Amino acid sequence: MPAVSQHQSALLDWYDQHARQLPWRYAPGHPADAYRVWLSEIMLQQTTVASVIPYFLAFTQRWPRVEALAETPIETVLEAWAGLGYYARARNLHACARAVSLDHGGQFPSDFDALRALPGIGDYTAAAIRAIAFGQPAVVVDGNIERIMSRLARIEAALPKAKAAIRAEAARRAPDQRCGDYAQALMDLGAGICLPKAPRCAACPLAFECQALRDGGPELASQYPRRQPKKAKPTRYGAALWLSDPQGRIFVRRRPERGLLASMLEIPSTDWHEDPAMITDPDWLGLEWQRQDGEIKHTFTHFHLRLELWQARLPQNASSVFLDQLHADRDARWVAPAALADLGLPTLMQKVAAVALHA
Ligand code: ADE
Repeated sequence: MPAVSQHQSALLDWYDQHARQLPWRYAPGHPADAYRVWLSEIMLQQTTVASVIPYFLAFTQRWPRVEALAETPIETVLEAWAGLGYYARARNLHACARAVSLDHGGQFPSDFDALRALPGIGDYTAAAIRAIAFGQPAVVVDGNIERIMSRLARIEAALPKAKAAIRAEAARRAPDQRCGDYAQALMDLGAGICLPKAPRCAACPLAFECQALRDGGPELASQYPRRQPKKAKPTRYGAALWLSDPQGRIFVRRRPERGLLASMLEIPSTDWHEDPAMITDPDWLGLEWQRQDGEIKHTFTHFHLRLELWQARLPQNASSVFLDQLHADRDARWVAPAALADLGLPTLMQKVAAVALHA
């Protein structure tokens, strides 16, 4: 087995030549700003670097320090986050900014357990912040790094069972110098060389120690990590309810604080069911709902969603009891169609609006 020091120097030498320039990175020898490191790591969870960059630049320009973010109302942060997905992350982001601001005097802690105790910071993010922002030793393992380790050590166990073995391989190789560069070198290797389907083994600085490559070339390497076969995502069905008032404005309200798209603005819809036979014609508010052409398709982490579109118009003479009932919804409001684009609606709701306005 090649020496760990050989692994570390091969990877770091490669990084010195090939590191990606990213807005949250610092030149070697320059201290990183933990706030920017943290923000980038939260944004990068389950999202690509390319889609994060504009959000990262916008957030850091608008809120250059953690205190500024902490003092901003959550609704404003959610609106700025719209489009990045997984809104629970934005809520945790805000809660974390507040905790750092109020409980830690605006300074991120460098201790692993203290980082881990902050909202939205799991093992991976705590380790990444510790290594990248503070240069401290940490075992940083995300999906890309799992792939690299499972190939280097040719780990036969399937994910998620393989996690302990993968972690042990990562821990064995982790350096105690240049810890941030090392972690980011693995990230760059995962993003550009040790690719899921067609790894570019000929360009890999770690080819000399890769057991999967040695045993079966890139073709075999591409078969790691082994995975349990995935369950198919179910599809849920429902109806979006496009309600306009006599002036043609659209009814929008805020979703509950818990659950999917928590606290985001929404165009109301019926319940969503996996069995399409459960979908009956809408009768919300006792109004006359008309089916419109078109269908809205969206995919969440755990299911696909297909919504029909139904429209109704509020009568001129709607009773005040009726209106009070409608306006009791959280943050209920009527919005001119042209203004919907500026509300920071989540992607699903933007799709509903696009179909309704057919766009
Ligand atoms: N993915 C997650 N964190 C990253 C980082 N710091 N650089 C590049 N890609 C990443």
